[in-house]
Amino acid sequence: MSDPEHGEKEVSTDRRTILKLITSLSFILGIGGVASLIKSISPVVLEIPEWPRVKLANISQIKPNTWYLFSYPTKDIPCLLVKTGKSLPSGVGPDKDIVAYVMICQHARYYGTIYIPPKEKRNPEELTYLKTVPPNILELYPDKNLLYCPAHAGIYDLEKDGEVLAGPPFCSLCKVSLEYEEASGDIYAVGLAPPAPAVPGVTQCSSDPNELKRIMLGKKLVSETLLEEKI
Ligand code: FES
Repeated sequence: MSDPEHGEKEVSTDRRTILKLITSLSFILGIGGVASLIKSISPVVLEIPEWPRVKLANISQIKPNTWYLFSYPTKDIPCLLVKTGKSLPSGVGPDKDIVAYVMICQHARYYGTIYIPPKEKRNPEELTYLKTVPPNILELYPDKNLLYCPAHAGIYDLEKDGEVLAGPPFCSLCKVSLEYEEASGDIYAVGLAPPAPAVPGVTQCSSDPNELKRIMLGKKLVSETLLEEKI
């Protein structure tokens, strides 16, 4: 015969065990729930992509004293590659005379319309708007590789890391970092370098390379690009 008292004791022990199980289960589930809640409310960290490494051309295709347009690191960022004909500290290629820049003016970020005068129009007489801004840079530097912004006549020196020679830009041009593979003769764009202040103390130019990389977030990076001969 069963002992009713003993039976009740067994039932209550079973109940306690089940209750304990339920409590620990809900505790575990609770922790999991809290963890997934924390996960879902923690800020989304967007990964800054790496600069793409894109072949621009082979050295055999680059003519001396010639300017070329290309897009980098996204399709909507216009850049300029120049074989300056002068050996430069940061130039690449066998003659160390090739440099490249983003063609966005650092004054009001006058987008993609920095003026490249055709060769025959680089005569100072033709560039009438420049005459309104003294000094006449073209007369001062008749044989320099310069870049002009038509918005407010900002002038950059392509032979000196895109430094501001005249006009209101706060910072130098953004340089495109180039790599030259001696064995193959191929030239690659491998990144952008932050601009430098036009005069010491200017704070508008960020030296943080990640700030430049943020322009690429959510955009389609170029995996190839074409050089278009400009002059
Ligand atoms: S936007 Fe280029 S000089 Fe002002």
